[in-house]
Amino acid sequence: MEDVMQKRLIVVSNRLPFQLLEKNNSVTLKESDGGLVSALKSYFETSGPQGTFNSKWWIGSADFPEKRWKKYIAQEQTSSFSVEPLFIEKKTYNKFYNGFCNATLWPLFHYFPSFVEFDEETFKSYEEVNRHFADKLLTILQPGDTLWIHDYQLMLLPGMIREQRPDATIGYFLHIPFPSFEVFRMLHRPWKEKIINGLLGADLIGFHTHEYVQHFLKSVQMVTGYDYQFRTVFLKDRIVKADLFPLGIDFDKFHNATRSTEVTTLRNSIRSNFEDKKIIFSVDRLDYTKGITHRLSGFERFLELHPEWRERVVFVLVVVPSRQIISKYNERKKLIEEHIGRVNGKYSTLKWQPIIYRYNHLSFDELSALYQVADVGLITPLRDGMNLVAKEYVASQTTQGVLILSELAGAANEMGEALQVNPMDREEVSHAIHTALIMDASEQQQKIEVLHKRLREYNVIHWVNDFLKQLEETKEHQKAQQTR
Ligand code: G6P
Repeated sequence: MEDVMQKRLIVVSNRLPFQLLEKNNSVTLKESDGGLVSALKSYFETSGPQGTFNSKWWIGSADFPEKRWKKYIAQEQTSSFSVEPLFIEKKTYNKFYNGFCNATLWPLFHYFPSFVEFDEETFKSYEEVNRHFADKLLTILQPGDTLWIHDYQLMLLPGMIREQRPDATIGYFLHIPFPSFEVFRMLHRPWKEKIINGLLGADLIGFHTHEYVQHFLKSVQMVTGYDYQFRTVFLKDRIVKADLFPLGIDFDKFHNATRSTEVTTLRNSIRSNFEDKKIIFSVDRLDYTKGITHRLSGFERFLELHPEWRERVVFVLVVVPSRQIISKYNERKKLIEEHIGRVNGKYSTLKWQPIIYRYNHLSFDELSALYQVADVGLITPLRDGMNLVAKEYVASQTTQGVLILSELAGAANEMGEALQVNPMDREEVSHAIHTALIMDASEQQQKIEVLHKRLREYNVIHWVNDFLKQLEETKEHQKAQQTR
């Protein structure tokens, strides 16, 4: 019999797409929050193993004990993909996650240089955790495998794999912005050299926007001296491609929820709580990059300038807990809550409270119901790689709804129909809120229809297929060059 090579897709990300919870001796799965996870999970679930790949794997660090994992697999769950959790020593992982990832790279890449911590120890842990991933992958990788590494937590990994497996097919995608070289250069010299060389271990490096691609190429040139032309970097022995792949959402999942009975019941109950009031909605992970306090200032200014809207509008603000150990995150929580208290204290009446605040995780049904019931989606990050909330909000509308979107989110490039604002400017935000609230239905519908068409077409499956197709082409291009 002909020996057919197994084609496997191995996705690697810091987080696995779920958490494992244990109650009364039984272990259950709970989906994780975060754009990356929800995007990839949709792909894994909707395209079965009969596709281009014989099997799909997901490798990520475990945030549950090994014992619980063993118990879970003993329950013999079926799944459309195989999972391989990495159990990393807690102290090392904490320095990696709370240190170099989220107190160095995250603030720097989101243009918060004053928040950046420079600590040799945490960089060492970053290297160590990347090395753990590499060691694990090297025991799994077979010829014919396609490896797809995700996000800023694993920037050294492509290079570590390449050293050992020069022929491996490696894709890498960065889900956060790649900053301008003037910002990137602030990293200590050995760190930035290792990061750039680590990324160049991949065959194809994907970003959300054209700007991020350009920033990356410039940094490659400045740090390593390698030349690039258009979107190809010329290393000594091979080429590496960098390109843009704007991440989409699972459009149908959100749009079809407008017809779900459970969501409709929830939506009606929220609606009846607010009777004839207009609803403005926002949801974010707790993060200083999301601009929540600036958004509150914009809303406060709106109430000040437009007394006619008092008692006729509510702002439902949901904040999802995140990275709580890091001081900058905790401080932000305090600032947000103080601000909400101030606005509610100033404007509430006996029958009305302007801001309804919730600090919690939302289930998919609750999130969908809130998206659907909201007359206005107010999404104003100070900096965001893409921002999928903006896309989910639009997909969850039937004919109406107005999106106010920060021009500093990657999503702004594809959503020209939204009311775009500078999130720092409270006058602009306040003005956009007013424009959104008085926009006539036909204009809303027109914008929503155009956006729907685009989001439906460039959905997450399109994104994955596009990336993987280009990865294959890059590999072929490399081979053709070598045989020349
Ligand atoms: C962003 C990052 C993801 C990350 C997510 C949640 O979307 O790009 O890599 O998983 O935030 O953050 P967390 O720190 O909880 O993984």
